[in-house]
Amino acid sequence: MAKKNKSSIFTLGIVVLLMATAGVAVAAETDADLGEVTFTKDIAPILQRSCQQCHKPDSVAPMSLITYEQVRPFARAIAKRTHMGPVAGVMPPWYIEKDVGIQEYQYDPSLSEDELAKIEQWVANRAPKGDPADMPPPLDLSGSSDWRIGEPDLINVLQEVTMKADAPDWWGEIEPVPTGLTEDRYVAAVEIREVNDVLDAEGKPSGRTTVGGRFIVHHMIWSTAVLEGAGGAAAAEQALTSFLGTSWPVHEVGRNADVFDPEGARLLEAGSTIITNSVHLHSNGQDTTARLEIGWKFHPKGYKPKYSEAVRVLGNAVDIDIRPNVANQELHSYLILAQNTKITTFEPHLHAPGARMCLEAIWGIHVETLSCAGYDHNWVRGYEYSHNYEPLLPKGTILHIIGYMDNTDKNRNIPDPRNWQGSGNRSVANMFIDLGHGVGLSDEQFQEEMNKRREFLKLTKNDHVIGCPLCNVLPMEELMKEATTATGAGGQ
Ligand code: HEC
Repeated sequence: MAKKNKSSIFTLGIVVLLMATAGVAVAAETDADLGEVTFTKDIAPILQRSCQQCHKPDSVAPMSLITYEQVRPFARAIAKRTHMGPVAGVMPPWYIEKDVGIQEYQYDPSLSEDELAKIEQWVANRAPKGDPADMPPPLDLSGSSDWRIGEPDLINVLQEVTMKADAPDWWGEIEPVPTGLTEDRYVAAVEIREVNDVLDAEGKPSGRTTVGGRFIVHHMIWSTAVLEGAGGAAAAEQALTSFLGTSWPVHEVGRNADVFDPEGARLLEAGSTIITNSVHLHSNGQDTTARLEIGWKFHPKGYKPKYSEAVRVLGNAVDIDIRPNVANQELHSYLILAQNTKITTFEPHLHAPGARMCLEAIWGIHVETLSCAGYDHNWVRGYEYSHNYEPLLPKGTILHIIGYMDNTDKNRNIPDPRNWQGSGNRSVANMFIDLGHGVGLSDEQFQEEMNKRREFLKLTKNDHVIGCPLCNVLPMEELMKEATTATGAGGQ
């Protein structure tokens, strides 16, 4: 994959070079080969699906990619950024490696080989506009479409925080915020977005290139609980120390939405308040004021979850020992699953030196890569497996994560690669955790889930499914059925 990308950029370079040096004759010749890829017909739909959510006015990205006039000056930059492969800098920011592991994810905005080829051809062909009649109707980019989970059922706005351009990392508390919810609801998905004033000065990026180029919230660890008495900071502290209420996935720099297993939703209690026990801010190189907004998507009233959250503490802070000026340094951590588990998300959490993480499942003699993802600490992403593709792992499975750290000047998130690095809370120090979630299954539920999977994927005992080591161990009745069908067919 990486190789292929390189060669396609190379080809693009040659075509552009040829066009520049040999002029019209060569361009005419290449036109025939390249076909008619146009902005209105081919490129606009790609931008609508995978880019405009950010590349629109007053959003997180530095420029809008909506009209031809806006897009044309960035044609070459677009070809470059989309073809980088799953590494820091790629657009859209989504880093799942496509040549290994499970490939089915919800909300996957990444571009297909076909779309990448179109972009390449379009640029090589001098980025023509095409027939205006081919232009797809514009997306509704007002407000609510900022939310990847769709229009939230409830939005909570947290306290504003300000980070000075030259301030060191900050850890502290923000005020508790009542959700205002008047009845218990189960949460299907939750999304947090950082709204900040980074672009307001001149609408230009700050120019700073280390981690946190635009966002200032490194993380927020948070939960919701019904507070004693009138609420307030003391009651929040009390709730936190006694682990009351529901904990929610940690918000991190540039993070995307969390979708829970449809049968394993978490409870947002009536009258609960949002409380945090750790907010960490990291300067983006420019005085910035920001707030987090939490969007909730609920299950219908009356919904009850079947599964509970599975505990998965997978990471290692103790052994982090990152040498100066060396790429590809590996970190390892293992966890034996104490219960049958459906893994619903994979979420590499590294810090600035992080370049990549893989998740592996070891079951008996099977050693299988479930997912590998590149990493850019400006965009900490969680990856939700699509339904019917989530790993289904029996208890006793060993989960193994491998972190790949790049402490060289190729990693733009590192301030100075001459430094040795250990574990630490600062964005420029290290962490090594898989923060993904999942649900625990009883033996019966585990069999039930595997049966669903077998049916959905039409599995036989000769099929192998990544992430389900026992899926091809068919239950006895299935085997009997297969045997009788086979004998029946053979006998007639
Ligand atoms: C989740 C938000 C998001 C999505 C989705 C996204 N971008 Fe970006 N894009 C950004 C941000 C923020 C920056 C500025 C930081 C950087 O350069 O990495 C950026 C930078 C860029 C740049 C560099 C601009 C320059 O000044 O050279 C290009 C080109 C680009 N994006 C193209 C795209 C394309 C094409 C897509 C879709 C295929 C896309 N982006 C999807 C947020 C996004």
